[in-house]
Amino acid sequence: MCGIVGYLGPKEKKNILLDGLQELEYRGYDSAGIAVISQGKLQHFKAVGKLENLREKARDFRSEGLGAAIGHTRWATHGKPTELNAHPHVGAFSYVVHNGIIENYQELKKELEAQGVRFLSQTDTETIVHLFEAFINKGMEPFEAFRQTIARLEGAYAILLISEAAPETIFFAKNGSPLLIAFDGDEVYFASSDTAVIGKAKEAYYLEDGEYGFASAGEVRLFDRDGPKAFSTQPLPSDKAMAQKDGYRFFMEKEIYEQSSVIGDTMLGRVLDETIEFEELPARFFEGISRIKICACGTSYHAGLTGSYLLERLAKVPCDVEIASEFRYKEPLLSTDTLFITISQSGETADTLEALKMAKRAGLKSLTICNVDNSSIVRESDAAILTRAGIEKGVASTKAFATQVMVLWMLSLYLSQRDDKLDRDRRRRELDAMRRTPKALVVEEKLHERIHRLSKRYLHGHGFFFIGRDIFFPLALEGALKLKEISYLHAEGYPAGEMKHGPIALADAELFTIALMPRSLLYDKIKSNVEELSARDATILAISPEPFELADDFIGTQHSEHSMLEFFEMMVVTQLLALEISIRLGNDVDMPRNLAKSVTVE
Ligand code: AGP
Repeated sequence: MCGIVGYLGPKEKKNILLDGLQELEYRGYDSAGIAVISQGKLQHFKAVGKLENLREKARDFRSEGLGAAIGHTRWATHGKPTELNAHPHVGAFSYVVHNGIIENYQELKKELEAQGVRFLSQTDTETIVHLFEAFINKGMEPFEAFRQTIARLEGAYAILLISEAAPETIFFAKNGSPLLIAFDGDEVYFASSDTAVIGKAKEAYYLEDGEYGFASAGEVRLFDRDGPKAFSTQPLPSDKAMAQKDGYRFFMEKEIYEQSSVIGDTMLGRVLDETIEFEELPARFFEGISRIKICACGTSYHAGLTGSYLLERLAKVPCDVEIASEFRYKEPLLSTDTLFITISQSGETADTLEALKMAKRAGLKSLTICNVDNSSIVRESDAAILTRAGIEKGVASTKAFATQVMVLWMLSLYLSQRDDKLDRDRRRRELDAMRRTPKALVVEEKLHERIHRLSKRYLHGHGFFFIGRDIFFPLALEGALKLKEISYLHAEGYPAGEMKHGPIALADAELFTIALMPRSLLYDKIKSNVEELSARDATILAISPEPFELADDFIGTQHSEHSMLEFFEMMVVTQLLALEISIRLGNDVDMPRNLAKSVTVE
């Protein structure tokens, strides 16, 4: 969720770092920093906000001669976006930049503090630099100190470290977060994505998890747990725009494929062996709360609606959900035992922000589930849980929705822990299903290919009905919203059981019904709802693990005991369907007409 760059060579280092960070700014932009060791001199600059603030701060700085330099653009996970929390993190004679989350940092921090180390920031990253220096202070050689440091870390990381103890050297390590080493002759570059080095370096090696090493005097030594390792480079692509999309045709497509890994980020440090933890929630935050009201717009509203089923079912807390633009003018009756939860990808949606201000004026405690730290809604809320989806570029929200739903599911389980609302077995089953979610979100090539082929039959007709029951009703709403946003075809989401109360009058062969038919939840009920539509000659595309003989088209999903796993798998199917239809219609998938990514007007 952050971007990192590094450079070892004779060129002026500041501009190489800043240009590289500029390319990575889309990964995170609440603060940025650089550190340079050149001719024995260590210097660093940090600034909160966009990269231009850092450029301005470092305006007069120049670095001459051979040296090592590292830089970072941050998307806060631990600690607020302040200058102290910005990377590079500093020890007495070393600097580190890090992308990922060190899960055991509190344990390491305690250990270091007991040895007299003083921490400046609230970040997990700072432990790395102090740990390294503690090993150096014990008399270890710098590389051995780095190796020992890495061995103590649990969690995900891409790390670059420079130190006066080994000038003209960059230490690196990768586990679970992306990192590459790129080369141009004797010059060595590092980056979390190749866009940062395209045009500068000619070839690159993309590190594997568990690899670490150092670069010194134009040479890179690579290691893994078995010892030294040979590696070979590959030519870097020459097209930057393509590289940012990692080879996908559209950002939306890339973001659909990213869901499996970002859900992992969302859960990191929160889904533990036996429990759910939210370190960001103040102690006793839920004291005096007996109801929840969720307020949001668009896709975030659909996530909220999904969450309301989970909160009532798992946490046994009464929960209602409102569209923010409606809530604002309905003169709502509010009571202070209600927790007001807003959900927003951008954190800037005007209606959601105003609804939050209203709830605060009425004395309600507020929590936001948001993707952008330091956004207006985060700043306005009493507490925030960040979804950690990373920047979402496609206007049609995909990975933000997935992570919002995951946070709501985790929150439901977290609240159920309070008064032991669930028995142990049930809690285990939920935790187990959560851990299996990243796998359920992996996009299989065969599935994508099948949806691509099917999509050509769905480019006309007088409308789509996405139908589902229970949590699959909000998913139906979301599937329909995705389709209409990027295909410009008319689509509606409906509770399957409601069709017979009116909309079934529309049924004929030109009405496309996308039926979400999970096996784990109300299968027989939805089956009879779909049969009713089929009897009226509606064209049925069934999405289910169970073959359905009345379906005109069928997309088979995995059999799974847990409805949330079916939910996430079907979510991917509806996203890909919208994507493929939109591509066939020749639309601009990432920037559909009439829409904006962040709706800051009423
Ligand atoms: C979703 O695809 C849309 N772009 C839109 O409905 C969006 O979810 C809505 O505008 C709310 O935005 P927010 O999550 O940034 O508050």
